[in-house]
Order: sequence, then C-alpha cells, then structure tokens
Amino acid sequence: MKGILLSGGTGTRLYPVTLAVSKQLLPVFDKPMIYYSLSLLLFAGIRDILVITTEADQAAYRALLGDGSDIGVSIRYAIQAEPQGIAQAFLIGSDFIAGDRCALVLGDNILYGSGLQRVLQEKAAGLSRGAVAFSCAVADPERFAIVTADKKGKPLRIEEKPKRPRSNQAVIGLYYYDERVVDVARRIKPSDRGELEITAVNQWYLERGELEVAQLGRGYAWLDAGTHEALVQAGEFVKIVEQRQGLKLGCIEEIAYRMGFIDLAQLRILACKYANSSYGGYLSKLALEFEAESPAGISAGATAA
Ligand code: DAU
Repeated sequence: MKGILLSGGTGTRLYPVTLAVSKQLLPVFDKPMIYYSLSLLLFAGIRDILVITTEADQAAYRALLGDGSDIGVSIRYAIQAEPQGIAQAFLIGSDFIAGDRCALVLGDNILYGSGLQRVLQEKAAGLSRGAVAFSCAVADPERFAIVTADKKGKPLRIEEKPKRPRSNQAVIGLYYYDERVVDVARRIKPSDRGELEITAVNQWYLERGELEVAQLGRGYAWLDAGTHEALVQAGEFVKIVEQRQGLKLGCIEEIAYRMGFIDLAQLRILACKYANSSYGGYLSKLALEFEAESPAGISAGATAA
C-alpha cells in the first residue's frame, strides 16, 4: 500500500504564525507536527510515501524529511498549487499511486492510544476492496465530517460539517482506499466551497456498501492543532504524556527501528545527528536499551503505540 501525506493548505487560522512557515512544520512540543501524521503511515507498515505541499514550502519539507532513507522509507514530493480540496491529493498523486491501494493522512493529525499500531496495521492488511475511514468522538462535531452508523457499526451516512450533527463521531484525517480511488476522485465534483471533498470520495464507497468506519474508542485521543489554543494544548498533551511515561509519541526514528525499517547502527547515527537536543538524548538511550536487548543489533519488530 502507498501512502500520501497531505501537508498543503494555507493555515490561515494560525496567522501570523503560518505566514512564513507551513502549519504542519510547527512544533508540537518536541517535534514538528508532521511527525505525528507520518508515524501513522509508518505504523501501518507503509514505506512508499508521497508528501504533498505548497510550492513555497516544499524545500523546507525536503530539508526535514529528505528522501526518507534515514528512516528506511522512500519519500517523494509533489506540489498542490492551490488548496482545492483533500481529494485532489489522489489526482496529484495518480502516477505515484500507479494502480496500488493508497492511504491518505492529513499532516495535522495527532492520534494517540493503546493498540493504535495494531489497528492501523490490521485495517491496512485487511483491505482488499473498498475503503476504511477512522472515527473518534469529539465535543464539536459541527467542525468535521460526521458519521452515523447502525448498531453493528455499519456506516449509514457521512455529512461534512453538519449544522445539526446526528452523532459525535468525527471522521479523522486518515483513510485507506483500494485501487479505484483515483478514478473516484476524478468523478466527484467540487463542493459549494469549491473543494474536492474527501467526504465525497467516502460517500462514493459508502453508497456501494464498501466503506468501513473503524471507530476508535474512548481510549484514544485525537488532537487538533488548528488554532493557537489547540496548538498549545496539543503540545501540552504530548509533553505531559512523554514526561510521565519517559516514552515519546510520534518519534519516527523509534518507530522505524521497531518496525524493522532501520537497524541499530542507523538509529545510533540518527541519535548522533540530534545529539544536542533532548530528542537526540532519547534516541541514544533507546539505542542503548535496544543494544542490551539485542547485542547483535538485529532489529526487533516489537510493539509500540
Ligand atoms: O481533520 C479531519 C477533517 O479534515 C475531516 O473530518 C473532514 O471531513 C475534512 O474535510 C477535513 O476537514 P477540515 O475542515 O479540518 O479541513 P481543512 O481544510 O482544515 O484541511 C485539513 C488539512 O488538510 C489541513 O492541514 C490542510 C490540508 N489541506 C486541506 C485542503 C482543503 C491541504 O493540504 N490541501 C487542501 O486542499
């Protein structure tokens, strides 16, 4: 399965912070926001990734993530000239997708919860036909796509930013699709706000009974960093969890090692690269722990979430 990380948009709700910096590069505590989204693709086992950005921001993303080889994945880049909707990602990425299945993650998704890796992997591995979306309970459902489902969890309806939401289950910014998604994106028409809506793509699958919505329960936190306050809150959340547990959220180097994408020698190199920061200190500590567990330096596909 391929993975698209959509990181365009103008971030106007965060002006003036985002006048000169892409929103998804802003720090959420100790790492750029995009790390949390990239983590979700890595957890799903996806190693072939396309990062879509604005033209102005692409150089910064390249400087941050390079070609992905540091963490044992392939990262390519494409430009979204204008933010004409999330589903436009499939048109921009059609050559990259090349008839494969594809995951899409928005670059501002922070998701945390026990068993996350397992859910992401299982749903990706289990998808042969159709689509999978994920939902979480939110207090402000009018801001998102909202799904209503029957008692068995089968989705009945998805509405984008409904004025009168029928449930509190928001569709989060992570989706898996079968190889038809590019054709579906070509078929849908722009919405009243002039965007190719991802909800229209999901609606296409739903109408055919081919959309699964995996409800992430109360044990999950899905955070939004779209306003000044939400950005600070997300940073605080990450800080509290990390400091309490001594474990990092969204640490792409750790995930890459645990997934078996890089070996211990590479983890050590990355730890040296960030030697002056507490992030680098964490990687060094991990490398020592992994070395003790596995003296030969053979990576272990252990658990993380
Ligand atoms: O966050 C989940 C929600 O994301 C879903 O529940 C909605 O169905 C979906 O439409 C979307 O709603 P938002 O109102 O949050 O979308 P927003 O326009 O804020 O875009 C979300 C991210 O995607 C943002 O970081 C910028 C990026 N983006 C968005 C558009 C429209 C792009 O990179 N290009 C675009 O054209």
